[in-house]
Amino acid sequence: MTDPARPAEAFGRRGGWLHAEAVPVAQIADEVGTPVYIYSATALTQAFDALDAAFGGSRHLLCYSIKANMNLAVVRTLVARGAGVDVTSRGELFRALRAGADPSRIVYSGVGKRDDEIAAALEIGIKLFNVECRQELRRIDAVAGSQGRLAPVAFRVNPDVDPQTHPYISTGLRTSKFGIPISEAVDAYAEAKALENVRVIGVDCHIGSQLTKLEPFGDALARVRDLVLELRAAGHGIEVIDVGGGLGVVYDDEVPPTAAEYGAIVIDAVGGLDCEIVVEPGRSLTANAGIFVTRVLYEKDNGDKHFVIVDGAMNDLIRPTLYQAYQAIEPVGPPNPETRVVDVVGPVCESGDFLAQQRELPVVGRSDLLAVRSAGAYGFAMASQYNGRPRAAEVLVRGDRFAIVRKRESLEDLVRGESIPEDLLT
Ligand code: LLP
Repeated sequence: MTDPARPAEAFGRRGGWLHAEAVPVAQIADEVGTPVYIYSATALTQAFDALDAAFGGSRHLLCYSIKANMNLAVVRTLVARGAGVDVTSRGELFRALRAGADPSRIVYSGVGKRDDEIAAALEIGIKLFNVECRQELRRIDAVAGSQGRLAPVAFRVNPDVDPQTHPYISTGLRTSKFGIPISEAVDAYAEAKALENVRVIGVDCHIGSQLTKLEPFGDALARVRDLVLELRAAGHGIEVIDVGGGLGVVYDDEVPPTAAEYGAIVIDAVGGLDCEIVVEPGRSLTANAGIFVTRVLYEKDNGDKHFVIVDGAMNDLIRPTLYQAYQAIEPVGPPNPETRVVDVVGPVCESGDFLAQQRELPVVGRSDLLAVRSAGAYGFAMASQYNGRPRAAEVLVRGDRFAIVRKRESLEDLVRGESIPEDLLT
């Protein structure tokens, strides 16, 4: 039997060739073209089930952090399994609803919510606003008042712990732009209580992403626990604790906590408070449920370096260059036993356009396919059309079937919405 915490490999080899579940990756690449993102529906549901089971005994809601992978089919796969959604903009709210999410299971996080975004979320009756500053609280109160509604709110508190991850994705330090300092929370909650159109229902905290150690979670949660007790003593009805996302995944040789260990530390810290626990996982549900497949165009050697030039680039997958992130790469075909140290680079006109640097890979040649692992989170979601590159196609696989869940963009898509105002040009 498959242990839900250790899902069967979604991308394994059969007869030497890489498969996505039971479908040969090369078949998808041939039929759909490259570059292409491929997601495994089974891996998505297994990751969800494992995390859900980790919180099994306690009242909880997993709100999938849609920013990690906003493809409608991916979101629907998780929503169908019982996920709520964590959104960060009106666009993400739109996508969550389009994917079939229940508004009463949507939480809205995000550091700069506009009035129209607040209004849209109130109109559909979301579960919770995670409020990032006092001015925002007042705007939510005003917009709710103008609609004659009561807005459910939690403050995002910044516990000032070092999550020990990449600085760009650390959010729980005092110096980051996120949340209100936990030391000001009691004051801020008092202000919220006095407002007519908000109802304080919870406390929220998210300290960062790709966390591979449990201690920072534990430290932050201990502070949240103390705060909840303090707020209750001050007469606030705290019913929800949103512990954010951030559970790390294996890209290389990291040893992140298992879902069960993560669930246990959360329950240990805040499980006894008789609150609903909201979790906002993104990467841990999707990263290793996806690969990015690209074809070798050329090779060149400048004496010092050997470059493998592929048709995928930083516009498709920006993590390697933006965060110096390691993502495993392997040939889709049977790996050549001979290896070579190479830079895998794309066609974009920047030296920062690489998928891997100084990486020992099996020798490949023109037209070979390469698969970049762990690409299901923050891959397509961060893609752009830079250098006039239509964004890649996305494919979802289940068992021996697959479907294109986002068409490759066309040339027309590149200029959609643009116009040339002739009278302004001369
Ligand atoms: N909740 C909040 C408030 C967040 O800001 C984030 C991620 C999440 C939940 C989900 O975190 P996760 O479970 O995915 O770690 N582009 C970066 C990651 C940025 C994360 C931003 N916030 C990367 O590719 O590593």
